[in-house]
Amino acid sequence: MGEELVSRTQVGIVGAGPAGLVLGHLLHREGIDAVVLESRSRDYVERRVRAGVLEQGTVDLLIETGVGERLQREGIVHHGIELRFDGRGHRIPFDELADGRGITIYGQQEVVKDLIAARLDAGLPLLFEAEALGVEGIDGDEPTIRYRYEGRERELRCDVVAGCDGYHGVSREAAPAGALTQYEREYPFAWLGILAEVAPSTEELIYAYHENGFSLHSLRSPSISRLYVQCDAGDELEQWPDERIWQELHTRLARDDGWELEEGPIVERTIAPMRSIVTEPMQHGRLYLAGDAVHIVPATGAKGLNLAVADVRVLAGGLVDWFRSGNERLLELYSATCLRRVWQTQNFSAWMTAMLHRYPDADDYQLRLQRAQLDYVCRSRAAAASLAEQYVGLELAQTKSSV
Ligand code: FAD
Ligand code: PHB
Repeated sequence: MGEELVSRTQVGIVGAGPAGLVLGHLLHREGIDAVVLESRSRDYVERRVRAGVLEQGTVDLLIETGVGERLQREGIVHHGIELRFDGRGHRIPFDELADGRGITIYGQQEVVKDLIAARLDAGLPLLFEAEALGVEGIDGDEPTIRYRYEGRERELRCDVVAGCDGYHGVSREAAPAGALTQYEREYPFAWLGILAEVAPSTEELIYAYHENGFSLHSLRSPSISRLYVQCDAGDELEQWPDERIWQELHTRLARDDGWELEEGPIVERTIAPMRSIVTEPMQHGRLYLAGDAVHIVPATGAKGLNLAVADVRVLAGGLVDWFRSGNERLLELYSATCLRRVWQTQNFSAWMTAMLHRYPDADDYQLRLQRAQLDYVCRSRAAAASLAEQYVGLELAQTKSSV
């Protein structure tokens, strides 16, 4: 390419997932320079199928900051979900229970595409196939990201490094041994997810509890369905030919009133492990960690992307204050502010997971407790309101120092 690469910036961002791209976007709006380094190609990150449910707060932020135009046109707003078990559906109405707030169905890769386009259109630095190899000097004033780009090792010197490089990233490792503590839970099952070229058989998402295991009917557009089945933790895709996937979906999603699941060609499939992880604190020296780089939630609550966006919203507020006026107060509170939401979300995601999945070692006592929980959520307005409030997203933290 031959162009001059930036070797010094205010904020070096590792990773162009939702966390890194939203952070870069928020900082740019406040006149703060950042360079985003992404190990994968643009094509890869724009095609990677992952989340699909955006909380109201995530949607509002994208719209308010000028990257929500396509989201407003193509996103599908939902005001409820269905819990399905014993052949019956039970609607949780968000409009009644969550002050009119809802969720928007819009694929994560669409959010990523919109943010990449906005960044590149503005001529801002975003390097693809630029793999961070390590972050150094985080205890000093000029942390440095070592990275490989176009076959050469390079350095990016920064005032601050934002580690937004996901669960498999390298930035977390820059913290000295013993500085961070990890809390985790592995689940004895995984999710097999498919995209199918068929109109969704439902208007709202269906979370189904069944003795064969959990399943979920979601969607991406009026012509694309997104479906998941619980599978064993060690399962490989070869064990799940198309017929088996559809068979399980029909069985687990069956409803007594003759509701039908439509099948269509499967165009994408992956198996995702289910785990819960929190790393504390979310910061060390001049390194700030955000999104999947510091916490993972099981997908049952649809929270991972939303939590990543909530983190960087807080981080951007703190960085703006610090760069503008040298006021460190918000930055010092970064980890504590985020962890409050992170643990609330861990709790919600673990609760949804426990209520809806079939645990291989569950005895009859545990199965009956699970039934009691489902029954309670479907019959009690208070329990349903608690689910609704958390599903649409808890209130966001204050990010301005003036208040
Ligand atoms: P990532 O999206 O993982 O981005 C990190 C980026 O860093 C990647 O692009 C990666 O390539 C890059 N990177 C890694 N290492 C390096 C390196 N060394 N150098 C440079 N770049 C690097 N969440 C929801 O909110 N709602 C949902 O409905 C939902 N459903 C999901 C369904 C599935 C099947 C899965 C797998 C996840 C789902 N999630 C959901 C979770 C959500 O996708 C993640 O939480 C989200 O991607 C986190 O964003 P992030 O930016 O922190 O990390
Ligand atoms: C999705 O549409 O991919 C999706 C929806 C809800 C979840 C998880 C994933 O809980």
